[in-house]
Amino acid sequence: MPRKVLYIDDDAGLRTLVQRGLGREKIECLLAADGESGLALLAEHKDIDIVAVDLYMPGLSGIETLERINAMPDHPPVIVVTGAQDSRMAVAALKAGAFDYVVKDVQGEFIYLLNAALHAAVQAMRNHRAKEAAEAEVREARDRFEALAAERALLMREVNHRVGNSLQLISSLLTLQSNASGSEDVAKALSAATGRVLAVAQVHRRLYTSDDVQSVAIDQYLEALVEDLRRSSEGGGLSQLTLDAEPIGAAPDHAVAVGMIVNELVTNSLKYAYPAGKGSIRVALKTAGEGRALLTVEDDGIGIDSAAPKSTGLGQRIVRAMGDKLRANIEHDKEHAGARIKITFDLRNEKMSHPPA
Ligand SMILES: Nc1ncnc2c1ncn2[C@@H]1O[C@H](COP(=O)(O)OP(=O)(O)O)[C@@H](O)[C@H]1O
Ligand SMILES: [Mg+2]
Repeated sequence: MPRKVLYIDDDAGLRTLVQRGLGREKIECLLAADGESGLALLAEHKDIDIVAVDLYMPGLSGIETLERINAMPDHPPVIVVTGAQDSRMAVAALKAGAFDYVVKDVQGEFIYLLNAALHAAVQAMRNHRAKEAAEAEVREARDRFEALAAERALLMREVNHRVGNSLQLISSLLTLQSNASGSEDVAKALSAATGRVLAVAQVHRRLYTSDDVQSVAIDQYLEALVEDLRRSSEGGGLSQLTLDAEPIGAAPDHAVAVGMIVNELVTNSLKYAYPAGKGSIRVALKTAGEGRALLTVEDDGIGIDSAAPKSTGLGQRIVRAMGDKLRANIEHDKEHAGARIKITFDLRNEKMSHPPA
């Protein structure tokens, strides 16, 4: 319901008619005889809900007055009043930004229509402002959310950086201990443990350098892991270690499990496949249907003889445990002369298949 209206018209009789008519509707009506004094009143009374302006006036025309009002910030809506049944002028007024137009008559019948137009304009303005306020609120909430998400990602990256550093430190301590130990078995066990710690450390490195803490690019992770393994293997035992990986993303905890498996199997090939020397060890990663991938670790060595004595057998237990985590299908390809282990696994947990947006 409009409370205060400004009516601009050079016709004094009509001004009075409108003021009285709107007064009956309990609407306060300020009057102006021309565009300039109307603009002055508008500048003075900030609580004017709506302006109605006559189209044909000496001095500033209705359209010019309308354009001046629309150029003001937070201006009220404007309704154009015209005596002439001139649809071209009406269209021009609407194009110039009038909310509505009303054709006036000297008897004042039009005041009923004007009143209806005033109510519609004020309601539309309120809806518009409410929509703007709601949009501003949504924008603020989204900006707050994005700022929080960015901060969280930064924190996550920081945490991963620290975890990666701590694990790196642990693996260096283990290497020191392994070098210092007098027993070959202890040294071997400690260096196996170092490899396992490094495999986990690498995942945190990946997470630290990626923008998405929900996903790790396994191909890049395996590249870094394979590089670590090559570097940590004495006498270049892993010089013929190759990786052929498709670009595949997986949940971080799944990446850790894959890393642990690759670490165990590559270390096994290094230790057992070529008793007389060294040879090719190949790691491959391919997509294998929706949300799954196929990891293959193979060598052209003596092959896994299940009857052969195991040193700890720990590796196979770790591979099985990680396999469970990945809902993996582990297959020893007996067709292949050397050792070939094929592992088909999930890239992320079912409930994480649609990571949260
Ligand atoms: N690539 C391979 N080539 C030949 N033999 C292997 C290979 N991988 C594993 N093995 C055999 O399987 C056994 C079990 O391996 P694993 O469970 O990793 O235990 P560990 O490495 O502690 O001996 C090894 O002792 C070895 O005899
Ligand atoms: Mg082993």
